[in-house]
Order: sequence, then C-alpha cells, then structure tokens
Amino acid sequence: MVDIAPTRIAIITGAAQGIGEAIALRLADDGIDVVVNDLPVKKDKLDWVAKAIQAKGRRSLAVLGDATVEADVVSLVEKAVEAFGGLNIMVANAGTIQRVPIVDTTIEDWDRVINVNLRSVMLAYKHAARQMIKQGRGGRIIGAASMAGKKGFAYFPSYCASKFAVRGLTQSVALELAEHNITVNSYAPGIIPTGLTERAEDEKNGGRCSTFLLAAGLPLNVPIGTTAMIAELVAYLVKPEAQFMTG
Ligand SMILES: NC(=O)c1ccc[n+]([C@@H]2O[C@H](COP(=O)([O-])OP(=O)(O)OC[C@H]3O[C@@H](n4cnc5c(N)ncnc54)[C@H](O)[C@@H]3O)[C@@H](O)[C@H]2O)c1
Repeated sequence: MVDIAPTRIAIITGAAQGIGEAIALRLADDGIDVVVNDLPVKKDKLDWVAKAIQAKGRRSLAVLGDATVEADVVSLVEKAVEAFGGLNIMVANAGTIQRVPIVDTTIEDWDRVINVNLRSVMLAYKHAARQMIKQGRGGRIIGAASMAGKKGFAYFPSYCASKFAVRGLTQSVALELAEHNITVNSYAPGIIPTGLTERAEDEKNGGRCSTFLLAAGLPLNVPIGTTAMIAELVAYLVKPEAQFMTG
C-alpha cells in the first residue's frame, strides 16, 4: 500500500442532524478533528454537535453557511484551514427532498432540490480538491448519493435526478483527482430515519418512516437502516486501508 498522510481534519456539510451528525461524531471517535456546517436556522443544533465532538477530546468548529452558495463554501474551507491547519476529508452531505409529480414541478421546486443535492456537492468537491491539491498530501472526498440515485422512484423526479447526478459527478471527479492521491466516493443509503424521512403522522400510518414509504410507493416492510450504518461506511472510506477504493 502506498503510504499517505494521516487523514485528520474533516468538513461535513449538513451536519446539524441526521446522517451528517452521525458521521461527525463517528469520525471524532477515530481521532479526526471535525468542522461542521449547516444552515443558520440550525445554529443551536450545530453548536450542540460541535460541543459533543469537543467532549470526545477532538477539536471542532461550527461554521454556519449555505452549501449551495460558492462564497460560503470557499469561506468554510478557509475557516477549517485557518483553525486546524489543513483539510484532509470533505463530506458533502447536505441534502433535501421534495415529493412533487413531474406534471406539477415548478422551476423553483426543481432548482431548489437540484441546487441543494447537486450544486452543493459540486462546490464541496471543487473547493476541497483545490485545497487538497495545494497541500499535496492526497485526501478523501465523499458525497451523499442515495438508493434513489440507482433506481427511480415515482413522484420524486428532482430528488432522483439529483442523486443519479451525484454518482456521475463522483465518478468523473474520482478519475480527475486520482493522480493527486485523492479518492472520491459517495454513499447511497436506503431508508434511514432522520428529518428527511420521518413525519409526525408516522404513528398513525404504520410506524417509522411509513408516511414517506407510502408517498414513495414502497412497501411498509422495507428494511430500515440507522445513521450509524452510514457513518461506519464513511469512517472506513477515510481510513488509509480504503485508499484503493475510488469512484
Ligand atoms: N435519510 C435517508 O433515508 C437518506 C437516504 C438516502 C440519502 N440520504 C441523503 O443523506 C444526506 C443527509 O440526509 P439526512 O437523512 O441526514 O437528512 P436531514 O434532513 O436529517 O439532514 C440534512 C441536513 O442538511 C442541511 N442542509 C440542507 N440544505 C443545506 C444547505 N443549503 N447548506 C447547508 N446545509 C444544508 C439541513 O439543514 C439538515 O440539517 C442527504 O444528502 C440525503 O439526501 C438520506
């Protein structure tokens, strides 16, 4: 195995809750310092995650910002480098979902989902790659795809399109960055109970995530995972042993 520098400083977008929060806490368990990002409306939750990372004995910084805005992503990377001295891991996790039939999809609906799920990933990849190439020590870049990036689901055209696109983006950038010893991968979860998939009506509709499953035309007995399962995969992808896995 080619020797690479230890991967020590991570940025995670959309880290105030759900899968992003679980990844942040899991990477901290492996001795990684974590800069967490989310929208300003999530300030309290984001501060809590940063404090939980610090309680594990790691350095952490909460940076509010919109992952779809290039200036915010540039500033996020700058703040991580300024605070902790570099960037080794980027997890472009921020995402959103909307159920709208194609016949009712407005340009505003479409742009919002595509921007949050795809433009934000492109910006995170771009500015992480610039920093990592400058450092010359390789790196790990990871984006949020989905099972909806491998298979279409009725009534979620923008979500499915954005997640299929994350796979193409990831495979393309993986080839481009291989010569810099930077791996680029994505995770593709099935159904994980989080703010994205849980609804207040779940109890009356048949249990956890039932409202979402019914809306997606999926059976209620579909297997349900945990945020820890995704965090464990990301923890593996940033290990030196995963250097052979890209794209
Ligand atoms: N939960 C699932 O079943 C599931 C399945 C497949 C893929 N995913 C993907 O995993 C990722 C995380 O999802 P989750 O389930 O934890 O959802 P979540 O809604 O619980 O968390 C997403 C976080 O992203 C943040 N966010 C949204 N827009 C942002 C922006 N512009 N800038 C910064 N932060 C922003 C939100 O505020 C939120 O805290 C998403 O990309 C999602 O599409 C989730």
